[in-house]
Amino acid sequence: MNLAVIGSGGREHAICHKLSLSKKIEKLICIPGNAGTKEIAENIKIDIGNFEEIYSIIKKKNIDIVIVGPEQPLTDGIADYLKERSVRVLGPGKFASQLEGSKAFMKNLCKANNIPTANYGIFDNLEDAKDFIKKSTIPIVVKADGLAAGKGVTVCESIDEALKQTKEILEGKFKSSKKVVLEEFLEGEELSYFVLVDKNSYHFFGSAQDHKRVGEGDTGPNTGGMGAYSPARLLTNDLEKKIKKKIIEPTLKAMKNLGYPYEGFLYAGLMINNKEPYLIEYNIRMGDPECQVLMMKLKTDLLQIVDCATKNNLKNLKIKWDKKKCITIVLCANGYPGKYIKDKEIKNLSTIISDENNQIFHAGTYEKDNKILSIGGRVLNITCSAESLNKARTQSLNNLKKINWTDGFFRKDIGWRAIKK
Ligand code: AMP
Ligand code: GLY
Repeated sequence: MNLAVIGSGGREHAICHKLSLSKKIEKLICIPGNAGTKEIAENIKIDIGNFEEIYSIIKKKNIDIVIVGPEQPLTDGIADYLKERSVRVLGPGKFASQLEGSKAFMKNLCKANNIPTANYGIFDNLEDAKDFIKKSTIPIVVKADGLAAGKGVTVCESIDEALKQTKEILEGKFKSSKKVVLEEFLEGEELSYFVLVDKNSYHFFGSAQDHKRVGEGDTGPNTGGMGAYSPARLLTNDLEKKIKKKIIEPTLKAMKNLGYPYEGFLYAGLMINNKEPYLIEYNIRMGDPECQVLMMKLKTDLLQIVDCATKNNLKNLKIKWDKKKCITIVLCANGYPGKYIKDKEIKNLSTIISDENNQIFHAGTYEKDNKILSIGGRVLNITCSAESLNKARTQSLNNLKKINWTDGFFRKDIGWRAIKK
């Protein structure tokens, strides 16, 4: 079969890597891809917002299935666009993508279906928002309604800060957001829970915990993710039952009732407090860097999974996972998540072993004159699995030492909550 993966991050490299191991794969293209995907797929450099051009490449290359990595093309309706033209796509349509694309949509869906989530208010004017903020307890969480590239959420420690953030959002700081969502602050520990959904059923697709803050001990500004590990420390059978019954199943049922059944990967960002799950957010895609650790643990052929999911035949498939623990550490360019340096050569990559327990997934890289150079804030994902998380982390850190890239930095404490215990 011929597959296309859309995106250029570590998530897409990990997906391409797994697809490339399938016996059934004939052709694999990545749009636009990075230096890592270039080794195993044909990179095609086109704008992922240009659906017409993507469709024309898909026809030309005889692609059977398209996997969409990032949220922006999904919320812009790429799955509908391609499906209307008889292309099989893994990913939700535009309406269902509002689960991530509009926090107001997601919160209202939770409220209407008794799905546990933080109390909230949605506002399109400052006066009403002010009243709500003044009656709230601190901290209060201020969120832009639409997509904001991970920058739309602020946990505010004072009324003044909450008013300032709210005003900025309502004045148009994020083009995608004319509304603001104000939320009660949830205490607890976060857990990422993944499912893969088709029109007839859904499957568990792994658990993970990521580290969003830039600094060790989870301090400093938020990033796209500095590292992740799987399985998540907190997930027990009991908790999983609650997550499915109270959150996942009512959501999928609600989407069906609205006439837009969910399809594709669904990522629930949860807060766990006193063994009870609360939904913080939905993402309509795999997590990055969570996908990288899940792909290392996945034992079933990914191509077979995607084939079944896009034929609404997941019900008959058993998805198997390796029991090993897995960790990924993100190597970032100096300056990230602020302004970071670019176009710096990364040496020694080929000297690091690559096998079923050791992979380096590329994120912000490109190849030029047989050299690997950096282009993004998050540059490489050093991913290892072992029988314990501690061993997996030590191995990742050893591999990192060999890279010897003075233009980058990383966190040494990924997985600390699970490893300390
Ligand atoms: P979101 O984009 O909604 O996932 O928010 C980004 C991050 O902000 C989450 O991963 C949490 O760490 C934090 N956050 C968001 N909403 C809340 C909340 N209601 N209570 C506590 N923390 C939150
Ligand atoms: N790692 C967080 C995300 O993918 O949204």
